[in-house]
Amino acid sequence: MSISVRFSKTLDEKISALTLPLTQGRGKGEIFKHIDQKLGKFLSHALKSNPQFKAKNGETLVLTAPKHEHIEHVILLGLGEEKALNTLEAEKAGGLLWPVLKKLGVSSSNLLIDSEYDKAEIQSQDIAASIANGLILRSYDFNAYKSKPKKASDKKTEFKKLVVVHERTANAKAAFEKTTHITQGVFKARDLVNMPPNDLYPDAYAKMVKKELKPLGIDVDILDEKKMEKMGMGAIMAVGKGSARQPRMVIMRWNGLNSAKKKSKSKPIAFVGKGVTFDTGGISLKPGAGMDEMKMDMGGSACVVGLMKTLALRKARANVIGVIGLAENMPSSNAYRPGDILTSYSGKTIEVLNTDAEGRLVLADCLTYVQQEYDPGFIIDLATLTGAMMVALGNEFCGTFANDDALWKQLESASARTGEKLWRMPLDKAWNKEVESAVADIQNLGKGRYGGACTAAAFLEYFIDEKRIWAHMDIAGTAWRKSDQPTVPKFGSGFGVRVLNDLVAQYYEGG
Ligand code: BES
Ligand code: MN
Ligand code: ZN
Repeated sequence: MSISVRFSKTLDEKISALTLPLTQGRGKGEIFKHIDQKLGKFLSHALKSNPQFKAKNGETLVLTAPKHEHIEHVILLGLGEEKALNTLEAEKAGGLLWPVLKKLGVSSSNLLIDSEYDKAEIQSQDIAASIANGLILRSYDFNAYKSKPKKASDKKTEFKKLVVVHERTANAKAAFEKTTHITQGVFKARDLVNMPPNDLYPDAYAKMVKKELKPLGIDVDILDEKKMEKMGMGAIMAVGKGSARQPRMVIMRWNGLNSAKKKSKSKPIAFVGKGVTFDTGGISLKPGAGMDEMKMDMGGSACVVGLMKTLALRKARANVIGVIGLAENMPSSNAYRPGDILTSYSGKTIEVLNTDAEGRLVLADCLTYVQQEYDPGFIIDLATLTGAMMVALGNEFCGTFANDDALWKQLESASARTGEKLWRMPLDKAWNKEVESAVADIQNLGKGRYGGACTAAAFLEYFIDEKRIWAHMDIAGTAWRKSDQPTVPKFGSGFGVRVLNDLVAQYYEGG
């Protein structure tokens, strides 16, 4: 995070920009009156002469203040209706404030938060924290690959400091600090998705994860191609065969319960991610247009890494396993082919009908491994698995398949709290039939033309032990977007970190 957020009881007088949130149709509050007075009724005049400004959520009115000791710019920030104001609405307003501050070209701003919001769903200190968090989430910028401007005159002013002015400083600060653990996990996931595939290939990725997570107290094991070959992981190995850069599996363990000296009797929980660092389709080659975007095909794994980071940062009282399967899907003389029959780590054989349906192969071996090794209480896998999922739900919702109603209910409430939208998708015998093979135990393609996201889920289900609680999140549409959202800038979104962190926090901590 390159912006510093400070909390203070008084305005920082060295800062010339002042952001003033306002709710819709409400008396303007003590703070507004105070500043208005200070500026010689300038604000009430400005509101009168700008009747189009209704203080809807995220609506802004940028004013140049009359000559005054230190206030030059005033940004009125709409929060919408007070009674509808909750964490997500406040975050959204904060997110929408970001492009306005950027355009204004200031390097810092005071953000003045009223202490009384008695009709809102949350308290004023949480409103303060959420506006700041929304701003930070939106301010993410992947610029590691851009050359720095050489001439000082080419340098743009960067926004660096937000001073949140609020009466209950300590409370607001504590609320904000909780959000930073989550945001750091989200940023890690975004960074990984945005990294180019020439730098983020299986071995480099695995090493990066170890370097990042080990210092946080997470155990990290890496299985290389020799190990996986020997273990009989024929599915993930086949996917990576066509690439000079061989597959890896990374196992991450966060033992938040053992460290509390309470050897827990409950099983660990597990998250599994698809990490195809680049998906050309292999011999079933994808069309050229837009293929560059297939660098995001490791979005599921990125979410698992980001989530593990968040859990460790906030010292989650839970035992959590993360497993990611990393492979590059390339066409070459050494690549796997349509027609091949693979023996997966489970021993089940898979007929390959399309080498572009590779994610499910990678996941199959990861799913077997995590069940065998850790007997988890539940498994949730995340994968940019099918274009069909995007056809069904677009970029807005993540289709989620669950074999357990209770786990789905928990996911549904976590989704409502975090704003990462999930939609339940069906598991059904009809799709299990669709992936039956004439020559092997299962085939990696459905027989029909439609329902591709569902047949993919049916394929994964085949590798889940009976009675094992499991959910599959197809994040093909949500891991990556080509346009900005209020709190998510375009490209890698980090989708999944927030909703799954909330799931763990609400239902799986404390033993
Ligand atoms: N990684 C793709 C799915 C994907 C497509 C993710 C677009 C994000 C955006 C996956 O490996 C794939 O190629 N799936 C095929 C499956 C088909 C061959 C059964 C697809 O969706 O076309
Ligand atoms: Mn593919
Ligand atoms: Zn893929």
